Amino acid sequence: MAQIWKGVVREYADFMPEHILRDVVTLGEGGNALIAAPAVGAMLKEITGVNAKVFIKFEGRNPTGSFKDRGMTSAMSAAKGKGAKVVVCASTGNTSASAAAYATAAGILPAVLVPDGKIAMGKLAQAIAHGAKLLQVNGNFDDCLVLARKLAENYDVELVNSVNPDRIQGQKTAAFEVVDELGDAPTIHALPVGNAGNITAYWKGYREYYTANCSSTLPFMWGFQAEGAAPIVLGHEVDNPETIATAIRIGKPASWEQAVAARDESNGVIEAVSDAQILEAHRILSAEVGVFVEPASAAGLAGILKKARTGTFTPDLSPSLDKGEPMNIVITCTGHGLKDPEWALNDINGNSKGSEVEPVKVQNDLSAVASILRLPAPMTERDL
Ligand code: F0G
Repeated sequence: MAQIWKGVVREYADFMPEHILRDVVTLGEGGNALIAAPAVGAMLKEITGVNAKVFIKFEGRNPTGSFKDRGMTSAMSAAKGKGAKVVVCASTGNTSASAAAYATAAGILPAVLVPDGKIAMGKLAQAIAHGAKLLQVNGNFDDCLVLARKLAENYDVELVNSVNPDRIQGQKTAAFEVVDELGDAPTIHALPVGNAGNITAYWKGYREYYTANCSSTLPFMWGFQAEGAAPIVLGHEVDNPETIATAIRIGKPASWEQAVAARDESNGVIEAVSDAQILEAHRILSAEVGVFVEPASAAGLAGILKKARTGTFTPDLSPSLDKGEPMNIVITCTGHGLKDPEWALNDINGNSKGSEVEPVKVQNDLSAVASILRLPAPMTERDL
């Protein structure tokens, strides 16, 4: 009989602090099987000669369509256990959608602070649908986070951004799932970096599993920021971050130090990718892998391809390569394409891609449809 998934807090209860387990709030998040991406493996082979098995960890499959749900189940469980009446978060959209859904499930009022404009419509709709108090701040994400932190310091309100350690507890389970499925850590784990909570959580998860002898290796953590919002790459804060990948439009990541630690302790990298590279990876994911993501989610694949093309994807990364075995690469795609679908239809300037995406008009007639599809004529009775 199939096992029914109980959500990440209960599934990984042995790795959760006690206070999170007392009153679990879950919408059934996690349990997202890896998706094989042989088309990406073939591209890497062609560019670098390296044999790799590439897998997508598609976090768009979570209840609110992003990886945030993993951390929100644990943060909201802790908040409910404490008797919180109001939670607050700053968000580029996904955190607010997730906080709103989980707060609703917990019977807590969600207040969300989002930057004025530059939030994908799908995410705003989610927060509104779940009954969040949605406040648009005339500033960017970094300003919103400062406000949210002050609100939580000065009022009886729980902060559910990833600076809350209870968020990381749930979010780290994505690394557990990867190891559980592959039997060990991958050689490389690539993912987008914005506020840097996710890279922090993955690295914590990989280390905890390693320490518990659930894996025998640790991955190289490869994080990618958008070029116009790449403070960690530049080594200084960015006052006016800009990128089409609005989810990672962040100039002062809260978990900056932890991200640098994940990079350095894993001998990994944090590099930048351009908006054009992000959109190219977005297209490859949808048209060649079968996974529809929002732009920020494509930064991990964009980074892998950039490193392959610039010759910095070093083939001596994995001892298993000596034996001629392919290395495993896992790329996290953080959010669903339905949240921000315009990028399937529009180019980098927001203009329609034209005939490439416009439907072909056809008469309501069988042979007209078959002819446009260039289908060979059906066999007639005479042919038989
Ligand atoms: N990808 C997506 C789709 C995101 O929504 C975010 C962050 C990231 C990547 C980056 O993850 O911040 O942990 O480094 N979104 C936050 C939000 C900031 O408010 O929804 P990170």
